[in-house]
Amino acid sequence: MTTDFGIRIRGLEKRYGDVRAVDHVDLAVPSGAFLVLLGPSGCGKTTILRMLAGLEEPSGGEIHFGDQLVASGDTGMTVAPGQRDAGLVFQSYALWPHMSVYENVAWPLKVKGWSTERRNARVREVLDLLSIGNLIERYPGEISGGQQQRVAIARTIAPGPKILLFDEPLSNLDAKLRAEMRTELMRVHRLTGATSVYVTHDQVEAMTMASHVAVMAQGRVEQFGAPDELLNAPATRFVATFIGTPPANVIPVEVVQGRYCYKQIDLGVADQRNGVGPSWLMYRADALLLRPEPGSRCLPVEFAEATPVAGRHIVTVWDSEMRLNIVTTEAPRANLGDRLFLEFPAVPTMVYHDRAEVEAQASMA
Ligand SMILES: Nc1ncnc2c1ncn2[C@@H]1O[C@H](COP(=O)(O)OP(=O)(O)OP(=O)(O)O)[C@@H](O)[C@H]1O
Ligand SMILES: [Mg+2]
Repeated sequence: MTTDFGIRIRGLEKRYGDVRAVDHVDLAVPSGAFLVLLGPSGCGKTTILRMLAGLEEPSGGEIHFGDQLVASGDTGMTVAPGQRDAGLVFQSYALWPHMSVYENVAWPLKVKGWSTERRNARVREVLDLLSIGNLIERYPGEISGGQQQRVAIARTIAPGPKILLFDEPLSNLDAKLRAEMRTELMRVHRLTGATSVYVTHDQVEAMTMASHVAVMAQGRVEQFGAPDELLNAPATRFVATFIGTPPANVIPVEVVQGRYCYKQIDLGVADQRNGVGPSWLMYRADALLLRPEPGSRCLPVEFAEATPVAGRHIVTVWDSEMRLNIVTTEAPRANLGDRLFLEFPAVPTMVYHDRAEVEAQASMA
């Protein structure tokens, strides 16, 4: 059985001198997928998107759109951006200021040689799709930022590309408009059926929109999967602390006489199969309890802040330099700097071992 791949990326690399902006990335999504590249600033998201668009050539690896090889860093083969059947929407949605909304959206169709009649019909269709049909005669200076972004999206989808590429398209909009446009973009995605790649460092955006998410750090993919998979089983410490509202807590532990220990608190039986190397225990924010008095498996912490969210409270506390998040039903009665006690459950949600470090230590011994 063959899968109908929309995009396949194999061993993709981009080096700028000594900087490995993209470091051996493998990703494949089915046709019609909504792939989100999620990660902190500088992790290589835009560089991947620019290679997909054909604005940047890979230093290594291959990109396929469907069955078509569009770029190979190994042979230097590359399909020109205009020949890739892909549309790109940027954060700064540079519309042509001297052209009306109609002309902005019609321009790429004109370049492709569409007849005036076909152009007119298509411009109206995509403006209606984005609910801005009434703005057709306005100029970019006469419409709001959110409306300008809709025009930019209309312009990109007008020629009906098979692949849509978005680079943080909503980050210039205010919170309410962002939420609205998220829904709008999902609708556009569904109606066009295009395979979409969407870059963001906003994990809420990623989790609500994506069919597939690639969490990136330092040019590499840390984990690739459905939003649920990332939330339920974060594969690495980085993913655990990057994803989730609030993200999970990851505690560095020592192994003492076969037990995990953090500051003399016994956190359960250690998994010894991985040797004595560093281990981290992961606790979800709703797995921890806050107590006013000390008790067993309790860590003294300092209260920082509490934020009410949908009938619950996200509480942040400090343990020395470490920030910890707890979700509680009752707001703690505490002020900044007050002493509270964090109770750990008997079993952590997940355990991470740093195999590379363990191996390095083993070879040094
Ligand atoms: N033309 C370039 N020359 C040298 N280094 C570059 C160039 N373009 C990008 N880089 C480096 O490559 C890395 C990845 O950059 P990229 O723009 O892909 O990050 P990003 O994930 O999109 O970040 P952000 O969220 O801030 O937009 C960064 O370290 C960046 O400094
Ligand atoms: Mg970027």
